Amino acid sequence: MVLLKLEKVTKRFGGLVAVNEVSLEIKHGDSIGIVGPNGSGKTTLFNLISGVYMPDEGRIFLEDQDITELPAFKRAPLGIARSFQIPRPFRSATVRENVAVGAMFGAHGEKMSVDEAMSIADHYIDLVGLGDKRLELADKLTAVEKKLLELARALAMKPKLLLLDEVVAGMNPNDVDKIVSLIKKIKEEEKIAAVAMVEHVIPAVMKFAERVMVMNEGKKMVEGATMEVLKMKEVAEVYFGTSQTIGESGDARG
Ligand SMILES: Nc1ncnc2c1ncn2[C@@H]1O[C@H](COP(=O)(O)OP(=O)(O)OP(=O)(O)O)[C@@H](O)[C@H]1O
Ligand SMILES: [Mg+2]
Repeated sequence: MVLLKLEKVTKRFGGLVAVNEVSLEIKHGDSIGIVGPNGSGKTTLFNLISGVYMPDEGRIFLEDQDITELPAFKRAPLGIARSFQIPRPFRSATVRENVAVGAMFGAHGEKMSVDEAMSIADHYIDLVGLGDKRLELADKLTAVEKKLLELARALAMKPKLLLLDEVVAGMNPNDVDKIVSLIKKIKEEEKIAAVAMVEHVIPAVMKFAERVMVMNEGKKMVEGATMEVLKMKEVAEVYFGTSQTIGESGDARG
């Protein structure tokens, strides 16, 4: 069954077409990677799915519901959670409070007590490895720790669809590996219906995604099985301007 369906979704900023008639289906159980050069529209696509922006054209469906016009705060309780490429926690709140807010805005948040939200927060803080920082102010975290906080906050929302925007960017290869394994494990254990991940870190995409969509200049360039897509000369060209394939290199950031 299709979880999320985008039908020819377009978003313009003035004269710039940031997302250009992108259609995509994400099914229950999918692990999809979204890659593409800087500025190709990946984050804007997540903003459209999560309701930060409304599309200028096209429709967005979650299961059978048309959510095109729903604002973000109404999409989260339906099961869409996302992390931000540029983390923006409540800086003067603790790690624990930040993640608890996620729990309360998420899929089961309506009837949740503060105590319950705190205990859900603790669970996910431990899982992502921030246990020692639980009572630290979010502002004091390193860049990588802020990414982990984003991940914990999104997970605490108990989403059906989890959108992770550059969550492993800046991490060393060991940590990338650990975090990708963790995301896969949590997805299975908690039956998160689908996870979409935007990444420049190609080893993370290869490890995580069964399917990849490549974006270029706002358009969907190609979509298919991860290794097949990453081996394509056309895909290498949009990244490097050469025919060295991405599978042969580590990081696709130009
Ligand atoms: N709020 C905005 N106002 C104006 N232009 C924007 C806005 N958000 C994004 N853009 C533009 O839309 C295009 C797509 O940006 P987007 O952030 O979606 O790319 P991206 O693929 O996520 O890039 P990166 O890999 O660098 O994160 C870029 O040209 C960007 O400058
Ligand atoms: Mg981005």
